[in-house]
Amino acid sequence: MSPTGMPSADLLGEQIASVLADPATTHGLARTLRAAAKEIELHRYHHASLRAWPSGRIDDKPAKVQIGGGAHRIDGYFNIDLAPPADLLWDIREGIPLQDSSVHEIFSEHFLEHIDYPCSAKSYVREAHRALAPGGRIITGVPDAAFALSHYPRPLDASDETIERWYAKRDCLGDINTRLDLVNLVFRDQDDDPTYTPHLWAYDHEKLVQLFTEAGFTTVEPWTFDPTVANPKRRWGSVYVIATK
Ligand SMILES: C[S@@+](CC[C@H](N)C(=O)[O-])C[C@H]1O[C@@H](n2cnc3c(N)ncnc32)[C@H](O)[C@@H]1O
Repeated sequence: MSPTGMPSADLLGEQIASVLADPATTHGLARTLRAAAKEIELHRYHHASLRAWPSGRIDDKPAKVQIGGGAHRIDGYFNIDLAPPADLLWDIREGIPLQDSSVHEIFSEHFLEHIDYPCSAKSYVREAHRALAPGGRIITGVPDAAFALSHYPRPLDASDETIERWYAKRDCLGDINTRLDLVNLVFRDQDDDPTYTPHLWAYDHEKLVQLFTEAGFTTVEPWTFDPTVANPKRRWGSVYVIATK
């Protein structure tokens, strides 16, 4: 709590909003403060859920859970995400709010690269191992960095499928249009859009296998893309694995 009685994160949020509204604020400071403002909003969502579930575990035992699904909800799955719309707003960097050995399947795609590695990524995989029932499975899809790098040596032209597909998601062709820009996009994916979350780590099949094996999963295999579960727009340029506890 701040001396005013307002939670200190809320007070900081107000101060940041006022600095951001000041036209004298430099571009560099504004970028940093926008990132902080976003974390404050997520902190607020997370703490609202933590007040409902102070033990950090929900009472329900959903059989199937999607993490970081955003607007892509999957029928029959309990959706956990930092921000709405989701069944539970929870910051996975703080742990998975599920009881031990309770869930049969955890699904995520284009989520893991948005959390910091090694701290949060390794903790997420260890938490998934704890929450999964024996024989339970975790399916993980990420942008395939190996695929992106394999394109680097090739010539690129404006009609290249790589460019067209990567840019379909937003209009940045004017700025990101060389072969190295495309590599940067997968490894760093930055955007000045305040709602955008950058990529913090890049993955390929080998890295995913290492991550899940290290956390104690018995098998880690390629997962055959299933558009009834996965977001169809993720089929191209992604790598998926399924790991079994
Ligand atoms: C690029 S979107 C992918 C959405 C969806 N999976 C898809 O493929 O269309 C990344 C999602 O991960 C969520 N996310 C990022 N960091 C998270 C965290 N620490 N805890 C929970 N969700 C997180 C974001 O809120 C966002 O919905």
